Amino acid sequence: MDIFTAIEERYSYRGPMEKSPLPREDLRKIVECGLKAPSGKNAQTTQFVIIDDANILEELHKLHPANKAMQQAPAMIACIIDQHAEKIYEGYDFQLEDCAAATENILLAITGLGYASVWIDGWLRVDQRAEKVAQLIKLPAGKKVQILLPVGKPLEQGPRREKKTFDQRACFNSYAG
Ligand SMILES: Cc1cc2nc3c(=O)[nH]c(=O)nc-3n(C[C@H](O)[C@H](O)[C@H](O)COP(=O)(O)O)c2cc1C
Repeated sequence: MDIFTAIEERYSYRGPMEKSPLPREDLRKIVECGLKAPSGKNAQTTQFVIIDDANILEELHKLHPANKAMQQAPAMIACIIDQHAEKIYEGYDFQLEDCAAATENILLAITGLGYASVWIDGWLRVDQRAEKVAQLIKLPAGKKVQILLPVGKPLEQGPRREKKTFDQRACFNSYAG
């Protein structure tokens, strides 16, 4: 799949997934795409925990009753940031930006291989969910699960969200409001 098709085809999938395990080769290939993303000062701060262990998945599946992909995914990728990051440029760190760039690469790779996913981030921020996931994957203190990505073969077509048009969001040379 070429890059433009992958961008077009990617969408947040929250529906049922095939439960059979994913080849580690594919999971590795997907995360390798995350490693190639740009990062502030090339610090490459995001770390990844790829979860395909049946016992850990069983616990993760219980956490999100409203999302079938989260209940059924045969693999998940936890994108990890450092909570006490070093300020690497003029008093700034780029943990969140690095993580977001890596995540988008990963989502495109997931799409390119015919799998589906959804960027789980807001949901992690309430009810200590990020902490619960951190415990399951044995994150050391100071590390945080910023984004969780269920990965699997979709069993149906999910709804596609409408995107604003070019003219609504972009312009050349000066801001068109
Ligand atoms: C920063 C961020 C946080 C998100 N958090 C969640 C989340 O917690 N749960 C969820 O189901 N989707 C989450 N999403 C997915 C968005 O809801 C989704 O990208 C948006 O509705 C557009 O749909 P699309 O991905 O199909 O284009 C998040 C996306 C981003 C970029």
